[in-house]
Amino acid sequence: MSRSMVDVLVLCLVILILDINYGFAKPSHHTCVIGAGYGGLASARYLNQYGVPFSVLEAQRSLGGNWRFQTDLEEDGLPPFTGVYKQLRINVPRQTMEFANWPFPDTTPSFPTGSCFYKYLRNFTKAFDLEKYIQFRSLVTSVKWADTQWEISYMKTDSKEKFKISCDFLIVATGRWSLPNIPRFEGQGEFEGKIIHIQKYKDPEPFRNSRILVIGAGPSGLDMAMHLTNQSARLIHSHHKKYNQPFFGDNYVRKPNVKRFTKNGVVFVDDSFEEVDVVILCTGYDFGLTFLDESCGLTVSRKFVLPVYQHMVNIRRPTMVLLSLPTLIIPKVLDTQANYAASLAAGKFELPSQDDMMASWLQQFGSRKVVDVNLLTDQMDQYFANLSAEAGTPRVPPVITNMRDFNAVNRLEDLLNYRDYNYKVLDDHHFERFYNPREEICDIDS
Ligand SMILES: Cc1cc2nc3c(=O)[nH]c(=O)nc-3n(C[C@H](O)[C@H](O)[C@H](O)COP(=O)(O)OP(=O)(O)OC[C@H]3O[C@@H](n4cnc5c(N)ncnc54)[C@H](O)[C@@H]3O)c2cc1C
Ligand SMILES: *[C@@H]1O[C@H](CO)[C@@H](O)[C@H](O)[C@H]1NC(C)=O
Ligand SMILES: *[C@@H]1O[C@H](CO)[C@@H](O)[C@H](O)[C@H]1NC(C)=O
Ligand SMILES: *[C@@H]1O[C@H](CO)[C@@H](O)[C@H](O)[C@H]1NC(C)=O
Repeated sequence: MSRSMVDVLVLCLVILILDINYGFAKPSHHTCVIGAGYGGLASARYLNQYGVPFSVLEAQRSLGGNWRFQTDLEEDGLPPFTGVYKQLRINVPRQTMEFANWPFPDTTPSFPTGSCFYKYLRNFTKAFDLEKYIQFRSLVTSVKWADTQWEISYMKTDSKEKFKISCDFLIVATGRWSLPNIPRFEGQGEFEGKIIHIQKYKDPEPFRNSRILVIGAGPSGLDMAMHLTNQSARLIHSHHKKYNQPFFGDNYVRKPNVKRFTKNGVVFVDDSFEEVDVVILCTGYDFGLTFLDESCGLTVSRKFVLPVYQHMVNIRRPTMVLLSLPTLIIPKVLDTQANYAASLAAGKFELPSQDDMMASWLQQFGSRKVVDVNLLTDQMDQYFANLSAEAGTPRVPPVITNMRDFNAVNRLEDLLNYRDYNYKVLDDHHFERFYNPREEICDIDS
């Protein structure tokens, strides 16, 4: 090989390396966000506002996370990340779900449809010009701590090609409503009917002539019982929740917990038996954080993520925060968490020492009697106060928690009608509620 040929080869190599480096080079303090659902979009808004360079990796083809209606359940060969169904209406007043300073138009009822909420998310994304930061069809497969930075591996879901990026700060906004919790029952193998998780339910049409067993009475289980009772041959509802049972019609039968399955039906713990064609499991969701490598310094299972400060900061590696860990929260909590996370990424405040964060975590959870370390039932307002005080961000007023608390009780007292009211915030502590017969106005461009 001649001298000049070698020179040319070396030059090509240098260009190639420079080019690769250029492709991977990130401005200092690059922040990565995983997920473009409500939490990821809220984070993007604040990161942008604070001038933090960032990018968002999203597994799906489009934004909106759980609120994106997905007809094809196996897009790009992936399990679904979204659980909304056609008749869905939100189950908390919209005021508890709004991004800060971004209200729905006044004409919107307090309980709009799921598709209206999705429109709202798209409208927000457009207004803040956030889509350009989002890289779609990018499924994060591993997150590792590599000495000084986060190393994130992801797969393009269309080409199946694998890539890596490095980030200085990481916001995990993958939600907690995409990995179905599927219990096992005795005799289930013998059962010749169909068993699905509510995540795969889209509309009542396929179930018209079926005898359906709905298991569970969380928000989804109660919705299923309401939607399907008069749309099926028989609706058997197995659960142990206490609520004011309205008259659902003669098709509806309430049963206690399942004891075991048989070939054609189910025996309940009171030894009664029902023939069943289809079982819909409304048994909730678990954390799907299996992509977090051990080097992240967290203990992660389907039910737990520990130890975290303020229900969100990875104490051992505080350049990672996770949104959506607390149980029974409203999206206003996610918005506040997103502002906290972005403020931290922007260096607007400093965390306590690791020892102090650990002490705070131990103090908060050491005395817990319940197993769920992130349950915020009675402390949500205090949580808003704590996050905002530390990060120096606007505090969500107590009226929002008051509305949530009122609705949580009212929903169980007046299941059939609780969505027929509009809520109005009067001041930081008070709201009023008035009857508003169903009108499905959704005056949002997206
Ligand atoms: C049927 C149903 C009804 C609901 N109704 C209500 C309601 O009425 N009111 C209410 O307040 N809440 C409701 N929720 C809860 C709802 O999920 C939250 O309101 C909100 O959408 C949570 O936002 P999030 O950003 O945390 O998660 P998500 O909306 O789930 O967004 C997470 C995003 O991360 C992406 N992602 C996940 N894993 C990866 C990965 N490995 N790599 C890349 N991207 C990934 C997902 O594709 C998704 O886009 C409901 C949930 C369900 C399932
Ligand atoms: C089913 O129809 C009956 C009779 O019209 C009605 O009383 C009942 O409220 C309906 N059930 C539900 C869950 O809407
Ligand atoms: C709020 O902060 C106080 C004081 O540190 C603490 O005792 C309390 O547990 C915190 N509450 C929540 C919900 O974070
Ligand atoms: C959002 O919706 C409002 C109300 O319909 C509309 O005025 C506005 O133009 C929309 N914004 C975008 C960016 O679509």
